[in-house]
Amino acid sequence: MNRARRELLQRAARLGLGSLAMRPVAAWAWQTPTPAGAKKLDVAGPQSLKAHALAHGLLYGCAVNVGLLGQDQAYTDLVRQQAAIVVAENAMKWGPMRPTPTTFHFAAADKLVAFAEANGMQVRGHNLCWHRQLPKWFDGYATKENAAALLTSHIESVVTRFKGKIQSWDVVNEAVLPSDGLPDGLRAGPWYKFLGPGFIELAFRTARAADPGAKLTYNDYGIEAEDEASGRKRTAVLELVKSLRAKGLIDAVGVQSHISAGGDYGSGLAEFLDAVQRLGLEIYVTEMDVNDRRLGPDDATRDKAVAATYRSYLDLVLKNPAVKSVLTWGITDRFTWLNGEDARADHLPERCLPFDQQLNPVEAFFAMRSAFDGAPAR
Ligand code: G3I
Repeated sequence: MNRARRELLQRAARLGLGSLAMRPVAAWAWQTPTPAGAKKLDVAGPQSLKAHALAHGLLYGCAVNVGLLGQDQAYTDLVRQQAAIVVAENAMKWGPMRPTPTTFHFAAADKLVAFAEANGMQVRGHNLCWHRQLPKWFDGYATKENAAALLTSHIESVVTRFKGKIQSWDVVNEAVLPSDGLPDGLRAGPWYKFLGPGFIELAFRTARAADPGAKLTYNDYGIEAEDEASGRKRTAVLELVKSLRAKGLIDAVGVQSHISAGGDYGSGLAEFLDAVQRLGLEIYVTEMDVNDRRLGPDDATRDKAVAATYRSYLDLVLKNPAVKSVLTWGITDRFTWLNGEDARADHLPERCLPFDQQLNPVEAFFAMRSAFDGAPAR
């Protein structure tokens, strides 16, 4: 048995997928049911997203609302059933973690890591340095003089606390925005304003020293589509990633993948992924959801279009063997950020994730599973 297969079986056993270990993949992969029968179907165990992904050497997982874990049993069971890797939707960000400049609130992050450990799941850390969701005290407290110490002490404390338990850290999140007009296409965020472009390297160096075993990731959105703005952003991200790679500070690129049903995703993204792969880096789809805000109100039409976009987008990105994981940003339409800050104009709830509001699998679930089934093995 080769090493990859042995690792796959070990991972499957940890995730409670004993049957996967016992059965040749081909024996159940064909059972992918038609969407028409979706709601009556068993999607647990070998029928789950994690099992289908794992069979091709991929990790499937999702962002978790940590407050609901153990409180909402159906939600907790669904995450346990489907995810091989989890990430906190909010609990590991500065805002929730830093009640004051000198204290940390680790309870929610600890809870997620304990849940993952108890269920044989891996954990992504999101995130260590971002221009958003900073604590209220940050404005008025942070200065040019104290920003470097603030950033490095935060990263040292948080990464050290979870050392050995995090598969990958989003060390710097969304630092590129060419439309801000800065050199190198960097965003004019607070860390840039205090520290200049060097804040990125500082963050990566600090994280590397605190947990050399975690894969250090640069994570961004708006690099997926074929339009000109996405192309410019891809170019700037690639330059940033190349310079970090030359210094041995980065291991992976996170492509968030907040995309739109019917959107245009193609060769621009594929070439970007190839370029990242040639740098010897891994690629993670970190925050996938497919919004339906460009579509009319009809549920069936929306579900079909969302599923088709999941399928075509995943088919495109999974062709690249450097893509190792796919995480959706949430798992059920009952809890999605898309009904908040980026809601549909008609205020209908979005139908953007693999499970609906009642936690039943929808067409997107089957589209994802089929894409995993068709992915070249890692
Ligand atoms: O938890 C507080 C609560 O205590 C408070 O009373 C309430 C009042 O507004 O806010 C609650 O916090 C909200 C939090 O979500 C939890 O629900 C924040 O206001 C709200 O801003 C926050 O939104 C999150 C957003 O990031 C913040 O920028 C979304 O849940 C989260 O899905 C979203 O995730 C981001 C990724 O981190 C990075 N990539 C884009 C993605 C989508 O925007």
